Amino acid sequence: MRFKKPLNLLLKEAAETGEGTLKRTLGPGNLVALGIGAIIGAGLFVRTAAAAADHSGPAVTLAFILAAIGCGLAGLCYAEFAAMIPIAGSAYTYSYATMGEMVAWIIGWDLVLEYAVGAATVSIAWSEYLNKLLENFGVDIPYQFCHSPFQSSLQGVHGIINIPALFIIVVLSLVLIRGTQESATLNGIIVVVKVAIVVLFIAIGWNYMKPINHTPYIPVNTGEVAMFHGQKSFLDFFTHDFGKFGWSGIVSAAGVVFFAFIGFDAVSTAAQEAKNPKRDMPIGILVSLAICTLLYVLFGHVLTGVANYKEFAGAGKEASVAYTIDTYMQSYHWLSILVTVAILFGFSSVILVMLLGQSRVFFSMSKDGLVPPVFSAVHPKFKTPYKSNLIFLVFVGLFAAFVPGDIVGDMTSIGTLFAFMLVCIGVIILRKSDPDTPRPFRTPWVPFVPILGAIVCLLMMVGLGEFNWLRLIIWMAIGFVVYFTYSKKHSLIRKGIVSVPKDPEPPMA
Ligand code: ALA
Repeated sequence: MRFKKPLNLLLKEAAETGEGTLKRTLGPGNLVALGIGAIIGAGLFVRTAAAAADHSGPAVTLAFILAAIGCGLAGLCYAEFAAMIPIAGSAYTYSYATMGEMVAWIIGWDLVLEYAVGAATVSIAWSEYLNKLLENFGVDIPYQFCHSPFQSSLQGVHGIINIPALFIIVVLSLVLIRGTQESATLNGIIVVVKVAIVVLFIAIGWNYMKPINHTPYIPVNTGEVAMFHGQKSFLDFFTHDFGKFGWSGIVSAAGVVFFAFIGFDAVSTAAQEAKNPKRDMPIGILVSLAICTLLYVLFGHVLTGVANYKEFAGAGKEASVAYTIDTYMQSYHWLSILVTVAILFGFSSVILVMLLGQSRVFFSMSKDGLVPPVFSAVHPKFKTPYKSNLIFLVFVGLFAAFVPGDIVGDMTSIGTLFAFMLVCIGVIILRKSDPDTPRPFRTPWVPFVPILGAIVCLLMMVGLGEFNWLRLIIWMAIGFVVYFTYSKKHSLIRKGIVSVPKDPEPPMA
């Protein structure tokens, strides 16, 4: 038998307890700001250069467009759920009500990759830009203490521990424990600064682009060419050449830069705070996505036009934007410093949103009995899930300190893409199983949009290559062990108890 959260009961109880009816303070503008606050971060300022160097060259712009198409399609599906089930818990709660406990578990467990591992990724990027900033003041953190043991410098020095990345995770986890009411204004300021910095870089960098850096725009993948001419089998191409530039490189790069779009779904978690979720959720999700796509494409074009993409595999690998400005736009050194400072603040807001999202999802799962009660223990004074925050401080901190940014970044991408795929499929299932539940926002052209969304997400997952699939499979396998040894036995739904997820702490915005 499939254990599902009864949708009607969930919505009724949500209304009775005030969930979904109170604190409706966010208008479309706030939601777009919340989305952009979560979206622009390490994906743009770090992963763009990595994707260009390893997979696509200047065509990283096309990768952004592909990733945006996937996000847009999945976003329309997210919006249907978010407006229909305007309660906390994001994709986890939606799937519990639609596809049953097992799928909900898979999504909830998988979201750890999006939120917790994602926070680690951004913290590592934060560390890179901090180094860059300190260089300006003649301070140099030794390589060993700001890199993972799996990294070595061009001079052959090995990393030991990434202390700055660990530091920012500790600080922001403590901020979360203390409560986040005050951050709405700060978040607004950070959003404005982040967008301003990106626009400034595009506007000034435009004049420093060299056509040679954009030639060829799509670097050739010889294996791909050989396959097109029938000189190579698809299997041979797929196992040896896929993703190393050419068209397949664009697909791989899309998987990598997909990271830059993660966060627009955070808007959906704010559904219960939206004044008019019917109209505002889709606006919040799609408008923030559209603005970011435009900025990203222009940014990718300028970045690879000013510096050659090959440099991003070597000297320009870290803090690539600051590197590009310092090397090729020397009269704009002030811009480099400004960008770096803004990036440090910007990354902090992204980390905060991710850590917050993580604690919310596990809070809901804990209330449902799927993870231990410690994850929903609320601090008597601060009213935050402080024990959960502390546990994730350790978990995220370990990744931040000891794992390279490329690895955690791609793990985040593949995990999130997987969750998006399930959400797309969920929309189709729910249309069949609960056709009559009111849908304030309907995904257009069902099942075409969800199916296409799932396919584009799957394509990007394929682009991320076998090692990331392996990591995803291992993570999910651990999840199944936990599910069958703990969660199934403690599930409240199985005992006939329905819990309504409520935010443990005040919203961010
Ligand atoms: N989209 C967020 C970033 O790029 C996660 O940092």
